Amino acid sequence: QSANIGVVGLAVMGSNLARNLASREGNTVAVYNRSRSKTDDLVAEHPEAGFVPAFSYEQFAASLHKPRTAIVMVKAGGPTDAVIDALLEVFEPGDIIVDGGNALFTDTIRREKTVRETGVNFVGMGVSGGEEGALLGPSLMPGGSDESWVTLGPILRSIAAVAEGEPCVTHIGHDGAGHFVKMVHNGIEYADMQLIAEAYDLIRRGTGKSPAEIAEIFAEWNRGELESYLIEITAEVLRQTDAATGRPLVDVILDQAGAKGTGAWTVQTALSLGVPVSGIAEATFARSLSSHPEQRSVSRNLPGPVEALQVDDVDAFIEEVRLALYASKIVAYSQGFDEIRAGAAEYGWSIDLGAVSKIWRGGCIIRAQFLNRIAEAYDAAPDLPVLLTAPYFVEALGRAQDAWRRIVQTAAGAGIPAPAFSSSLSYYDGLRAERLPAALIQGQRDFFGAHTYRRVDREGTFHTLWSGDRTEVEAEDTH
Ligand code: 6PG
Repeated sequence: QSANIGVVGLAVMGSNLARNLASREGNTVAVYNRSRSKTDDLVAEHPEAGFVPAFSYEQFAASLHKPRTAIVMVKAGGPTDAVIDALLEVFEPGDIIVDGGNALFTDTIRREKTVRETGVNFVGMGVSGGEEGALLGPSLMPGGSDESWVTLGPILRSIAAVAEGEPCVTHIGHDGAGHFVKMVHNGIEYADMQLIAEAYDLIRRGTGKSPAEIAEIFAEWNRGELESYLIEITAEVLRQTDAATGRPLVDVILDQAGAKGTGAWTVQTALSLGVPVSGIAEATFARSLSSHPEQRSVSRNLPGPVEALQVDDVDAFIEEVRLALYASKIVAYSQGFDEIRAGAAEYGWSIDLGAVSKIWRGGCIIRAQFLNRIAEAYDAAPDLPVLLTAPYFVEALGRAQDAWRRIVQTAAGAGIPAPAFSSSLSYYDGLRAERLPAALIQGQRDFFGAHTYRRVDREGTFHTLWSGDRTEVEAEDTH
């Protein structure tokens, strides 16, 4: 019983997390993998880590002192269930199983409920930061019980990234809360990436600059309010030359974006919750559109505008693209936080949105300067209903909106797809609108389905007798 924490699943994320844990004072790490060779290799390659290898679940459990704590880093879905079942055979009440995979939060809710009945604690934990983050300091989003947080808190704090002196981990909320927040993190990640891609495309097509030249623009942006990991790596990718052809790497990569599903989960969940995460949805759909070569090839000759994009003042154009990117990014984050707020209300979690923004400041893929502004907004007004109405963002949007509109117009005029830029702007204008044409939709619904409507001037629910004499009657609210 020499280890205080164990890791099951020693693929790259699992072994890096195990090495991170082992490198911190006070931790002794037990490691187990289904196929023995991974365990042997890890232990042989990292003697400095002092790993305690286990070759069966019995041995794994016997090497951990109580409460036993195991972090499971295997594929989401069936493999995770199989490992949980095996651990339950050898663990005892009070022990803790942490699922650090990208599980769907509803699976986590289900697993937590089943595991809890055995007296073992189950914690679904979002882990962000990719392979390097797992090794050097990820952003961690654990859910689960308060009891498990007592044991887990100090261990997780010791391995998390540090931002502004604070570890990037907090107890998000019960059962599936951690995985829910990680899911939305990924949705925002999709939006952020799509917005950057749209900015790149507009600059390239509008100015004819090379990827390497555009890399310098992103590097420059990374010194200002857009400073973030994704902007930084964008410059790196654009700067890369393909060894085989001598061309920019970005020009030889097939333009079909993959997705493992977390973006789609964010959108599906938002649809069920009725939260308009339009920027995230467009980003997800843009990946889908890109990945249909059979549709794209038959569509190539569809008519487009006659005039190609003509930019006269290149520097001014680039600055306007930057502002459009910043404004759309504010929308994407605002929508993401809206989804977390709605999810918390629906599933009964008490999630501190300010704390979420703080643990995203380091370690994770969407880490950015910008998250400090979000943290400040929630510090000042924890119950803020729409993040982008915080004073800082109102000022930023005010500064950006003219440019944003011009860029969306330019893109539409030139036939350049900018779905995330334009849907974010529509969302912004939708929020601002004094009146929305939703009134007409209610009228139509009432016409064909007697779905009723409410009035601006009187309480109650009404229906017009459309197929009768078209007088209005009071009605039961059917929504
Ligand atoms: C992270 C990432 C990561 C995610 C990949 C792949 O926070 O480290 O979000 O968890 O799985 O980025 O996502 P897609 O394959 O769906 O792009």
